[in-house]
Amino acid sequence: MRSQLTILSLVLLLLVNLKWVVKAQLIPAKFDGFVYGNPKKFNPESILIEAFFDPVCPDTRDSWPPLKQILHLYGSKVSLIVHPFPLPYHDNAFVTSRALHIVNELNSSATYSLWESFFKDQEKFYNKETSNMTRNNILDHVVDFVTKSVGHAYYSDVKSGFSDRKTDLKTRVSFKYGCSRGVFGTPAFFVNGFPLPDVGSSIDYNGWRKIIDPLLSPKREHQSM
Ligand SMILES: *[C@@H]1O[C@H](CO)[C@@H](O)[C@H](O)[C@H]1NC(C)=O
Ligand SMILES: *[C@@H]1O[C@H](CO)[C@@H](O)[C@H](O)[C@H]1NC(C)=O
Repeated sequence: MRSQLTILSLVLLLLVNLKWVVKAQLIPAKFDGFVYGNPKKFNPESILIEAFFDPVCPDTRDSWPPLKQILHLYGSKVSLIVHPFPLPYHDNAFVTSRALHIVNELNSSATYSLWESFFKDQEKFYNKETSNMTRNNILDHVVDFVTKSVGHAYYSDVKSGFSDRKTDLKTRVSFKYGCSRGVFGTPAFFVNGFPLPDVGSSIDYNGWRKIIDPLLSPKREHQSM
């Protein structure tokens, strides 16, 4: 009897949780993330890498150059979608991720150069370097930084983007999407939907070759899983 009760309470707990999960998840109108290259040329037949990146995470920064090299090596055979994943212990991760959503909406071709600008000058947004700044100081700092990267003509649009609730919600969707995939650190990578091990560490050029080359081998299609 006791064990039956325990099982029953477990099942009930699970049902309550499931209901909560469905309610709490908002389904966005569009798939989250930023397609690398021209989104119109996105090829659904290609190998899809999904990367979860925090703009102010050093390991994310270090993982970008080899990944970019790999994308250029394989060309249209491999596609990339990057999802911003702001880690809660990086004070400026959410505001910088939001900046990426704002810029992506204004000029999607400028998104990846903004990622690179953040990676290049990441220390400016580290916790220690911004510890004596107010939230408004930081916002001004981010707006200035972003317009330096995308062009001064965008200044007022970038600034007003931060008062637009939609851009806040988009950034929340990115975070929630990462959570729904079980992401807990950055960088995190998925290939054709399957997670790669070693979340939080960079993958070098040879590491990527070892992952992608076998997937492109003609033998692979007939191989049993
Ligand atoms: C959008 O960004 C790209 C890449 O930075 C740039 O070449 C292009 O001129 C920008 N377009 C507009 C309309 O500002
Ligand atoms: C924060 O401290 C630095 C020196 O560590 C100083 O240069 C800067 O002006 C200070 N910023 C503010 C907003 O007080």
